[in-house]
Amino acid sequence: MNNTWSTAIQRPGTLYCSRRLRFADSLADRWCAAFAIPAGSAILELGCGPGALAQSLARWYPNCTVTAIDRDSGFLQFAAETVGSLSNLRFAEADATALPYADGSFDVTISNTVQEHVAPDRFFGEQHRVLRPGGVCLVLSSRRGISRTAPVLAEASPFEREIWQRIEPYARAADEANAVCAYPMTEQELPRAMTAHGFGAVSTDYITVNLTPDSAETDEAAALAMLDANRQTALDGIDTIPHIAPGVVSATELAQLRAEVEAKHDRRLAQYCRGEPQWDAIVNVIMVVRGIR
Ligand SMILES: C[S@@+](CC[C@H](N)C(=O)[O-])C[C@H]1O[C@@H](n2cnc3c(N)ncnc32)[C@H](O)[C@@H]1O
Repeated sequence: MNNTWSTAIQRPGTLYCSRRLRFADSLADRWCAAFAIPAGSAILELGCGPGALAQSLARWYPNCTVTAIDRDSGFLQFAAETVGSLSNLRFAEADATALPYADGSFDVTISNTVQEHVAPDRFFGEQHRVLRPGGVCLVLSSRRGISRTAPVLAEASPFEREIWQRIEPYARAADEANAVCAYPMTEQELPRAMTAHGFGAVSTDYITVNLTPDSAETDEAAALAMLDANRQTALDGIDTIPHIAPGVVSATELAQLRAEVEAKHDRRLAQYCRGEPQWDAIVNVIMVVRGIR
């Protein structure tokens, strides 16, 4: 059983909340136009994490089948409990560098923010192998976006700042040990790598996802989900501490840190509820690279 990523790097709740916003039904038309997935396709998602993209794909393409794999059993357990049963969706534990599928057994492969963590020869090579001739390879990769934090969330007490300073070397070591972002690629390198690994008709697209709770375009349910995703991300960061740095922060300190972070997010929520716009914004820019086997 391997659950290092979901305990030490990014916890399932963080990824699930943020990806539910990224792959929300309100954006389905934009994503589907970029994907151009043929009807009836057998789709394989690599590195599915807690399953939010797989869930959206299965719902947006009811006539396709979606097989979603990850090597982290913690994410798969979360997906099984949270995503629920969709008849055209199954999750499986597998390694993207050695896929347990026959040559040419899928019409489409897709991944979101996985390429940068897996050696390119294996990442592209395995997808090339399991795709049928004419099959579609889709690689989604986060680019530099915009992140503007509300002042009330940016504040940190001396206690909080000291804890994060104490943890910083351990967090860096955990990232290194798990090859996090070991293979980053620029907007030029990524399509070139796809071509170099035998894919043709390579195209790129860029989709922006604007997460601004105070925008008039954002309805209340979406705004609350955005604020909750921020809170979840902060709390999950605290929950990784005992895994990456056992014994470095005491249980009492963890409880105090948690209480301070919760209080900040409570204040931000109260501002929203009182109608005091903060114009905090997270704007994700996601590159979609599409190639044909
Ligand atoms: C940044 S997370 C993205 C997860 C998911 N795609 C999402 O957007 O929520 C990277 C994911 O890749 C998975 N991963 C990394 N290397 C892998 C490999 N060799 N085989 C399968 N999954 C892998 C990790 O377990 C993790 O779930």
